Amino acid sequence: MTASYPALRLRRTRSAPWSRRLHAETILTPADLIWPLFIADGEGVEEPIASLPGVSRWSVDGIVARAKDARDAGIACVALFPNTPRALRTEDGREALNPDNLMCRAIGAIKDAVPDIGVLTDVALDPYTAHGHDGLVDMQGYVLNDDTAEVLVAQALNQAAAGADIIAPSDMMDGRIGLIRDALEEEGHVNVQIMSYAAKYASAFYGPFRDAVGSRGLLKGDKKTYQMDPANAEEALREVALDLQEGADSVMVKPGLPYLDIIVRVKNAFEVPVFAYQVSGEYAMIEAAVAAGSAERDPMVLETLMAFKRAGCSGVLTYHALHAARLMGG
Ligand code: PBG
Repeated sequence: MTASYPALRLRRTRSAPWSRRLHAETILTPADLIWPLFIADGEGVEEPIASLPGVSRWSVDGIVARAKDARDAGIACVALFPNTPRALRTEDGREALNPDNLMCRAIGAIKDAVPDIGVLTDVALDPYTAHGHDGLVDMQGYVLNDDTAEVLVAQALNQAAAGADIIAPSDMMDGRIGLIRDALEEEGHVNVQIMSYAAKYASAFYGPFRDAVGSRGLLKGDKKTYQMDPANAEEALREVALDLQEGADSVMVKPGLPYLDIIVRVKNAFEVPVFAYQVSGEYAMIEAAVAAGSAERDPMVLETLMAFKRAGCSGVLTYHALHAARLMGG
């Protein structure tokens, strides 16, 4: 029989800081974090993003400086997203395939200056298309799966050739992980990882990100024909199963906190590395609460990040990464 009060007092192990540390079931370190960075055109440029207070776009020189900050704080990896100049956005998003685009220049500059940090790159066409969708659209505006997947393969190879360590397809096209994996193998990129945005929901939490990459004003309609319905969990497991079968090294659940249940189910079902993306709207909610005087930033940030670790994540993409890493003494 299990002991009960007064023999058992669960408060006993909580009674002193050393004991709470000793009994902590989960740890959070700077190495658990991936820091998303937005790239701006030009040089010496910093562009604050109004809907993401505290986050800026940086030109490639500034991106390199941020990568150094991240490395010095113990962060494992940065994730890159370009704000492609409007004039280079086309119906077919072909700038994604330019070996000298903002993304490739940033990858190369980081790999030269800060070779010991991981570089994760987003595969999807939304920062490059004139209509703001992640893929190619037909006359009705429907995002075409197989035609898009073909372009995504070329985009992934372009990023791998520039030096990307982790290819992260965020587009939700069917079958693209297998095609990208085959192409990477064929081109000799055998150690380039794929972290698939496997369970990515059609979410209301992406607004500030779309401002940051300049696609909000351009986007025609919504992304519900390719991103997942927030009502579904079994479907997330099917998405993950397929991406793993097709050769993903790790999988992502996105957004983060509203989908902790999905993280737990994926981790339990597959026992593979799972990552969460604490997305722009989640960051903005915390910052808005802090600005309104209704919450304290530091403990709230750390609590949300710990929640992802507790749920089973290997790591978290978060705009609070540098701040959080420094809070942890990084
Ligand atoms: C697009 C992409 C999005 C995010 C990452 N990659 C937005 C979208 O799907 O519209 C969102 C990240 C965030 O909100 O922080 N492929």
